[in-house]
Amino acid sequence: MSAEVRRAAQILRSGGLVAFPTETVYGLGADAASAKAMARLYEVKRRPAEHPVIVHFARAEGAFAWARDVPEEARKLAKHFWPGPLTLILKRGVFAKDFVTGGQDSVGLRVPSHPVAHELLKDFSGAIAAPSANRFGKVSPTTAAHVREDLGKDVDLVLEGGPSEVGIESTIVDLSGGAAVLLRPGHISKQALEVVIGSVGEKAATSPRHSGGLERHYAPLTPARMVPAHALDKEISKGKTCAVLAFSRPDERVDFWLRMPREPQAYAQRLYAALRELDSAQCEQILVEAPPQTAEWDAVRDRLKRACEQG
Ligand code: TXA
Ligand code: MG
Repeated sequence: MSAEVRRAAQILRSGGLVAFPTETVYGLGADAASAKAMARLYEVKRRPAEHPVIVHFARAEGAFAWARDVPEEARKLAKHFWPGPLTLILKRGVFAKDFVTGGQDSVGLRVPSHPVAHELLKDFSGAIAAPSANRFGKVSPTTAAHVREDLGKDVDLVLEGGPSEVGIESTIVDLSGGAAVLLRPGHISKQALEVVIGSVGEKAATSPRHSGGLERHYAPLTPARMVPAHALDKEISKGKTCAVLAFSRPDERVDFWLRMPREPQAYAQRLYAALRELDSAQCEQILVEAPPQTAEWDAVRDRLKRACEQG
Protein backbone atom coordinates (compact mmCIF):
# COMPACT_ATOMS: atom_id res chain seq x y z
CA MET A 1 0.00 0.00 0.00
CA SER A 2 1.55 3.31 -1.04
CA ALA A 3 1.83 6.29 1.34
CA GLU A 4 -0.18 8.34 -1.16
CA VAL A 5 -3.10 5.90 -1.01
CA ARG A 6 -2.98 5.90 2.80
CA ARG A 7 -3.09 9.68 2.77
CA ALA A 8 -6.06 9.55 0.38
CA ALA A 9 -7.98 7.19 2.68
CA GLN A 10 -7.25 9.51 5.60
CA ILE A 11 -8.61 12.49 3.66
CA LEU A 12 -11.78 10.54 2.89
CA ARG A 13 -12.20 9.61 6.55
CA SER A 14 -12.01 13.27 7.53
CA GLY A 15 -14.72 14.22 5.03
CA GLY A 16 -12.50 15.36 2.14
CA LEU A 17 -12.64 14.71 -1.59
CA VAL A 18 -10.19 12.45 -3.42
CA ALA A 19 -10.10 11.91 -7.17
CA PHE A 20 -8.90 8.44 -8.09
CA PRO A 21 -8.35 6.38 -11.23
CA THR A 22 -10.71 3.60 -12.25
CA GLU A 23 -10.58 1.40 -15.35
CA THR A 24 -13.47 3.40 -16.87
CA VAL A 25 -12.85 7.08 -16.04
CA TYR A 26 -11.47 8.98 -13.02
CA GLY A 27 -13.91 9.28 -10.11
CA LEU A 28 -14.40 12.07 -7.58
CA GLY A 29 -14.63 10.18 -4.30
CA ALA A 30 -16.24 10.99 -0.97
CA ASP A 31 -17.27 8.95 2.08
CA ALA A 32 -20.68 7.62 1.01
CA ALA A 33 -21.82 7.38 4.64
CA SER A 34 -21.14 11.03 5.44
CA ALA A 35 -23.85 13.60 4.72
CA LYS A 36 -21.31 16.40 5.01
CA ALA A 37 -18.77 14.87 2.63
CA MET A 38 -21.54 14.13 0.15
CA ALA A 39 -22.82 17.70 0.31
CA ARG A 40 -19.35 18.93 -0.60
CA LEU A 41 -19.12 16.38 -3.42
CA TYR A 42 -22.37 17.63 -4.98
CA GLU A 43 -21.26 21.22 -4.59
CA VAL A 44 -17.90 20.68 -6.32
CA LYS A 45 -19.48 18.55 -9.01
CA ARG A 46 -22.26 21.17 -9.40
CA ARG A 47 -24.67 18.31 -9.60
CA PRO A 48 -28.38 18.69 -8.79
CA ALA A 49 -29.21 17.06 -5.42
CA GLU A 50 -31.77 14.68 -6.90
CA HIS A 51 -29.18 12.96 -9.11
CA PRO A 52 -27.92 9.71 -7.54
CA VAL A 53 -24.23 8.73 -7.49
CA ILE A 54 -22.55 5.34 -7.85
CA VAL A 55 -21.12 3.82 -4.67
CA HIS A 56 -17.83 1.89 -4.94
CA PHE A 57 -16.59 -1.06 -2.90
CA ALA A 58 -13.53 -3.28 -2.63
CA ARG A 59 -15.63 -6.45 -2.77
CA ALA A 60 -19.06 -7.68 -3.87
CA GLU A 61 -20.13 -8.60 -0.30
CA GLY A 62 -19.57 -5.01 0.76
CA ALA A 63 -21.62 -3.75 -2.17
CA PHE A 64 -24.55 -6.08 -1.56
CA ALA A 65 -24.67 -5.00 2.10
CA TRP A 66 -25.88 -1.63 0.77
CA ALA A 67 -28.82 -3.26 -1.05
CA ARG A 68 -31.89 -5.27 -0.07
CA ASP A 69 -33.69 -8.13 -1.83
CA VAL A 70 -30.59 -8.80 -3.96
CA PRO A 71 -31.80 -10.89 -6.91
CA GLU A 72 -29.96 -13.96 -8.20
CA GLU A 73 -29.15 -12.12 -11.46
CA ALA A 74 -27.20 -9.50 -9.52
CA ARG A 75 -25.05 -12.17 -7.88
CA LYS A 76 -24.43 -13.85 -11.22
CA LEU A 77 -23.41 -10.57 -12.88
CA ALA A 78 -21.18 -9.67 -9.93
CA LYS A 79 -19.49 -13.04 -10.07
CA HIS A 80 -18.82 -12.64 -13.76
CA PHE A 81 -17.94 -8.99 -14.14
CA TRP A 82 -16.72 -7.67 -10.75
CA PRO A 83 -14.21 -6.30 -10.23
CA GLY A 84 -14.84 -4.47 -13.48
CA PRO A 85 -16.71 -1.80 -15.47
CA LEU A 86 -20.25 -2.73 -14.42
CA THR A 87 -22.68 -0.84 -12.17
CA LEU A 88 -25.74 -2.58 -10.70
CA ILE A 89 -28.82 -0.63 -9.64
CA LEU A 90 -30.52 -2.50 -6.79
CA LYS A 91 -33.15 -1.74 -4.16
CA ARG A 92 -31.37 0.28 -1.53
CA GLY A 93 -30.47 -1.03 1.92
CA VAL A 94 -30.37 0.94 5.18
CA PHE A 95 -26.84 2.32 4.61
CA ALA A 96 -27.81 3.99 1.34
CA LYS A 97 -29.21 7.34 2.47
CA ASP A 98 -31.10 9.92 0.43
CA PHE A 99 -27.92 11.99 -0.01
CA VAL A 100 -26.44 9.13 -2.08
CA THR A 101 -29.54 7.91 -3.92
CA GLY A 102 -31.00 11.31 -4.71
CA GLY A 103 -34.05 10.21 -2.71
CA GLN A 104 -34.77 7.18 -4.89
CA ASP A 105 -35.46 3.74 -3.44
CA SER A 106 -32.55 2.27 -5.43
CA VAL A 107 -28.77 2.52 -5.22
CA GLY A 108 -25.98 2.18 -7.82
CA LEU A 109 -23.15 -0.19 -6.81
CA ARG A 110 -19.81 -0.96 -8.40
CA VAL A 111 -16.58 -2.85 -7.63
CA PRO A 112 -13.86 -1.33 -9.83
CA SER A 113 -10.83 -3.30 -11.01
CA HIS A 114 -8.18 -0.58 -11.23
CA PRO A 115 -5.44 -1.51 -8.72
CA VAL A 116 -5.21 2.02 -7.26
CA ALA A 117 -9.00 2.19 -6.80
CA HIS A 118 -8.93 -1.23 -5.19
CA GLU A 119 -6.10 -0.28 -2.78
CA LEU A 120 -7.93 2.90 -1.82
CA LEU A 121 -11.21 1.07 -1.20
CA LYS A 122 -9.41 -1.58 0.84
CA ASP A 123 -7.57 0.93 3.00
CA PHE A 124 -10.64 3.14 3.47
CA SER A 125 -12.62 -0.04 4.17
CA GLY A 126 -15.96 1.63 3.55
CA ALA A 127 -18.12 2.79 0.67
CA ILE A 128 -16.82 5.53 -1.64
CA ALA A 129 -19.38 7.51 -3.62
CA ALA A 130 -17.82 8.60 -6.88
CA PRO A 131 -19.30 10.26 -9.92
CA SER A 132 -16.91 10.97 -12.78
CA ALA A 133 -14.43 13.66 -11.66
CA ASN A 134 -15.63 16.41 -14.03
CA ARG A 135 -18.10 19.24 -13.56
CA PHE A 136 -21.70 18.28 -14.22
CA GLY A 137 -22.48 17.77 -17.90
CA LYS A 138 -18.87 18.03 -19.10
CA VAL A 139 -16.59 15.41 -20.65
CA SER A 140 -15.39 12.75 -18.18
CA PRO A 141 -11.68 12.69 -17.26
CA THR A 142 -9.50 9.75 -18.29
CA THR A 143 -6.21 11.06 -16.85
CA ALA A 144 -5.17 12.71 -13.58
CA ALA A 145 -4.22 15.82 -15.60
CA HIS A 146 -7.81 16.10 -16.93
CA VAL A 147 -9.07 16.06 -13.33
CA ARG A 148 -6.67 18.81 -12.27
CA GLU A 149 -7.68 20.94 -15.27
CA ASP A 150 -11.36 20.56 -14.41
CA LEU A 151 -11.46 20.68 -10.63
CA GLY A 152 -8.22 22.39 -9.61
CA LYS A 153 -8.12 23.20 -5.91
CA ASP A 154 -11.66 21.97 -5.30
CA VAL A 155 -10.32 18.45 -4.82
CA ASP A 156 -8.04 17.65 -1.86
CA LEU A 157 -5.95 15.02 -3.62
CA VAL A 158 -5.74 13.46 -7.09
CA LEU A 159 -4.33 9.94 -7.16
CA GLU A 160 -2.29 9.15 -10.27
CA GLY A 161 -3.14 5.93 -12.10
CA GLY A 162 -2.28 6.44 -15.75
CA PRO A 163 -4.82 6.78 -18.57
CA SER A 164 -8.07 4.85 -17.97
CA GLU A 165 -8.03 1.61 -19.90
CA VAL A 166 -11.71 1.45 -20.89
CA GLY A 167 -12.12 5.19 -21.38
CA ILE A 168 -15.92 5.47 -21.07
CA GLU A 169 -18.17 5.08 -18.02
CA SER A 170 -19.35 1.71 -16.70
CA THR A 171 -22.24 -0.27 -18.15
CA ILE A 172 -25.29 0.30 -15.90
CA VAL A 173 -27.86 -2.47 -15.38
CA ASP A 174 -31.02 -1.78 -13.38
CA LEU A 175 -32.23 -4.80 -11.41
CA SER A 176 -34.30 -2.83 -8.90
CA GLY A 177 -37.61 -3.41 -10.65
CA GLY A 178 -37.52 -7.13 -11.46
CA ALA A 179 -36.46 -7.61 -15.08
CA ALA A 180 -32.94 -6.44 -15.98
CA VAL A 181 -32.78 -3.17 -17.91
CA LEU A 182 -29.71 -1.65 -19.55
CA LEU A 183 -29.54 2.02 -18.50
CA ARG A 184 -26.16 2.95 -19.95
CA PRO A 185 -24.19 0.95 -22.54
CA GLY A 186 -20.49 0.44 -21.87
CA HIS A 187 -17.49 -1.82 -22.38
CA ILE A 188 -19.52 -4.79 -21.10
CA SER A 189 -22.07 -5.18 -23.87
CA LYS A 190 -25.75 -6.09 -23.69
CA GLN A 191 -24.87 -9.33 -25.46
CA ALA A 192 -22.22 -10.19 -22.84
CA LEU A 193 -24.73 -9.54 -20.05
CA GLU A 194 -27.31 -11.73 -21.78
CA VAL A 195 -24.89 -14.66 -21.90
CA VAL A 196 -24.90 -14.58 -18.08
CA ILE A 197 -28.52 -13.72 -17.15
CA GLY A 198 -30.61 -14.15 -20.29
CA SER A 199 -32.61 -11.34 -21.81
CA VAL A 200 -31.79 -7.73 -20.84
CA GLY A 201 -34.29 -5.00 -21.71
CA GLU A 202 -33.54 -1.52 -22.98
CA LYS A 203 -34.31 1.70 -21.20
CA ALA A 204 -37.88 2.95 -21.60
CA ALA A 205 -38.74 6.65 -21.86
CA THR A 206 -39.85 6.76 -18.20
CA SER A 207 -36.81 5.09 -16.61
CA PRO A 208 -35.41 6.26 -13.23
CA ARG A 209 -33.46 9.50 -13.15
CA HIS A 210 -29.83 9.26 -14.01
CA SER A 211 -27.74 12.09 -15.33
CA GLY A 212 -26.21 9.95 -18.09
CA GLY A 213 -29.76 9.92 -19.41
CA LEU A 214 -29.91 13.66 -19.88
CA GLU A 215 -29.69 14.53 -23.53
CA ARG A 216 -26.76 16.90 -23.53
CA HIS A 217 -24.07 15.25 -21.45
CA TYR A 218 -20.41 14.40 -21.84
CA ALA A 219 -20.36 17.47 -24.04
CA PRO A 220 -17.55 19.71 -25.33
CA LEU A 221 -18.17 23.49 -25.40
CA THR A 222 -17.72 23.82 -29.17
CA PRO A 223 -20.92 22.91 -31.05
CA ALA A 224 -20.45 19.34 -32.27
CA ARG A 225 -22.25 17.45 -35.00
CA MET A 226 -22.21 13.84 -36.12
CA VAL A 227 -22.25 13.34 -39.89
CA PRO A 228 -22.08 10.24 -42.06
CA ALA A 229 -18.72 9.62 -43.77
CA HIS A 230 -20.05 10.57 -47.20
CA ALA A 231 -21.30 13.95 -45.94
CA LEU A 232 -18.02 15.05 -44.29
CA ASP A 233 -16.66 16.56 -47.47
CA LYS A 234 -19.77 18.65 -48.09
CA GLU A 235 -19.75 19.98 -44.51
CA ILE A 236 -16.09 20.91 -44.73
CA SER A 237 -16.58 22.79 -47.99
CA LYS A 238 -19.10 25.14 -46.32
CA GLY A 239 -16.07 27.04 -45.04
CA LYS A 240 -16.62 27.22 -41.27
CA THR A 241 -13.47 26.43 -39.29
CA CYS A 242 -13.78 22.91 -38.02
CA ALA A 243 -12.08 20.33 -35.85
CA VAL A 244 -12.75 16.83 -37.16
CA LEU A 245 -12.90 13.42 -35.49
CA ALA A 246 -12.83 10.78 -38.18
CA PHE A 247 -11.73 7.33 -39.31
CA SER A 248 -10.52 8.57 -42.64
CA ARG A 249 -7.33 10.39 -43.62
CA PRO A 250 -6.99 14.14 -42.91
CA ASP A 251 -8.43 16.59 -45.42
CA GLU A 252 -5.91 19.35 -46.17
CA ARG A 253 -8.55 22.09 -45.84
CA VAL A 254 -9.01 21.22 -42.16
CA ASP A 255 -6.61 22.59 -39.53
CA PHE A 256 -7.40 20.16 -36.79
CA TRP A 257 -8.06 16.53 -37.61
CA LEU A 258 -7.96 13.58 -35.23
CA ARG A 259 -7.91 10.15 -36.76
CA MET A 260 -9.62 7.47 -34.69
CA PRO A 261 -9.16 3.67 -34.58
CA ARG A 262 -11.65 1.47 -36.44
CA GLU A 263 -11.94 -0.83 -33.47
CA PRO A 264 -14.58 0.18 -30.85
CA GLN A 265 -12.57 -0.58 -27.67
CA ALA A 266 -9.56 1.38 -28.88
CA TYR A 267 -11.88 4.19 -30.00
CA ALA A 268 -13.56 4.35 -26.57
CA GLN A 269 -10.20 4.49 -24.83
CA ARG A 270 -9.23 7.57 -26.89
CA LEU A 271 -12.64 9.24 -27.02
CA TYR A 272 -12.75 11.70 -24.10
CA ALA A 273 -9.18 12.89 -24.50
CA ALA A 274 -9.99 13.41 -28.19
CA LEU A 275 -13.12 15.48 -27.39
CA ARG A 276 -11.01 17.66 -25.10
CA GLU A 277 -8.39 18.18 -27.81
CA LEU A 278 -11.06 19.04 -30.39
CA ASP A 279 -12.57 21.54 -27.98
CA SER A 280 -9.26 23.24 -27.29
CA ALA A 281 -8.69 23.73 -31.04
CA GLN A 282 -11.33 26.50 -30.66
CA CYS A 283 -12.88 26.07 -34.07
CA GLU A 284 -16.40 27.17 -34.96
CA GLN A 285 -17.58 23.61 -34.97
CA ILE A 286 -16.64 20.00 -34.29
CA LEU A 287 -17.53 17.43 -36.94
CA VAL A 288 -17.66 13.78 -35.95
CA GLU A 289 -17.70 11.03 -38.56
CA ALA A 290 -20.51 8.68 -37.47
CA PRO A 291 -19.35 5.23 -36.35
CA PRO A 292 -20.93 2.05 -37.79
CA GLN A 293 -24.52 1.20 -36.76
CA THR A 294 -23.53 -2.23 -35.39
CA ALA A 295 -24.00 -3.42 -31.76
CA GLU A 296 -20.28 -3.39 -30.94
CA TRP A 297 -20.34 0.40 -31.42
CA ASP A 298 -23.39 0.97 -29.13
CA ALA A 299 -21.45 2.46 -26.20
CA VAL A 300 -19.31 4.76 -28.36
CA ARG A 301 -22.33 5.86 -30.42
CA ASP A 302 -24.22 6.64 -27.20
CA ARG A 303 -21.42 8.94 -25.92
CA LEU A 304 -20.96 10.61 -29.31
CA LYS A 305 -24.69 11.28 -29.61
CA ARG A 306 -24.70 12.99 -26.24
CA ALA A 307 -21.58 15.01 -27.10
CA CYS A 308 -23.39 16.19 -30.23
CA GLU A 309 -26.72 17.10 -28.56
CA GLN A 310 -27.17 20.85 -28.82
CA GLY A 311 -28.34 22.16 -25.45
O1 TXA B 1 -17.62 4.26 -14.72
C1 TXA B 1 -18.32 4.83 -13.90
O2 TXA B 1 -19.45 4.43 -13.59
C2 TXA B 1 -17.73 6.08 -13.23
C3 TXA B 1 -16.57 5.67 -12.34
C4 TXA B 1 -16.01 6.81 -11.55
O3 TXA B 1 -16.96 4.61 -11.51
N1 TXA B 1 -18.74 6.78 -12.50
C5 TXA B 1 -19.74 7.47 -13.11
O4 TXA B 1 -20.51 8.14 -12.23
O5 TXA B 1 -19.91 7.48 -14.29
P1 TXA B 1 -21.54 9.29 -12.67
O6 TXA B 1 -22.13 9.77 -11.37
O7 TXA B 1 -20.86 10.31 -13.51
O8 TXA B 1 -22.62 8.52 -13.44
C6 TXA B 1 -23.36 7.58 -12.72
C7 TXA B 1 -24.65 7.28 -13.39
C8 TXA B 1 -25.45 8.51 -13.41
O9 TXA B 1 -26.11 8.59 -14.63
C9 TXA B 1 -26.30 8.29 -12.18
O10 TXA B 1 -27.37 9.13 -12.11
C10 TXA B 1 -26.62 6.81 -12.32
O11 TXA B 1 -25.35 6.31 -12.61
N2 TXA B 1 -27.17 6.23 -11.11
C11 TXA B 1 -26.59 6.14 -9.92
N3 TXA B 1 -27.45 5.62 -9.02
C12 TXA B 1 -28.60 5.37 -9.68
C13 TXA B 1 -29.89 4.86 -9.33
N4 TXA B 1 -30.16 4.52 -8.08
N5 TXA B 1 -30.82 4.74 -10.29
C14 TXA B 1 -30.57 5.11 -11.55
N6 TXA B 1 -29.40 5.62 -11.94
C15 TXA B 1 -28.42 5.74 -11.03
MG1 MG C 1 -20.47 11.55 -15.21
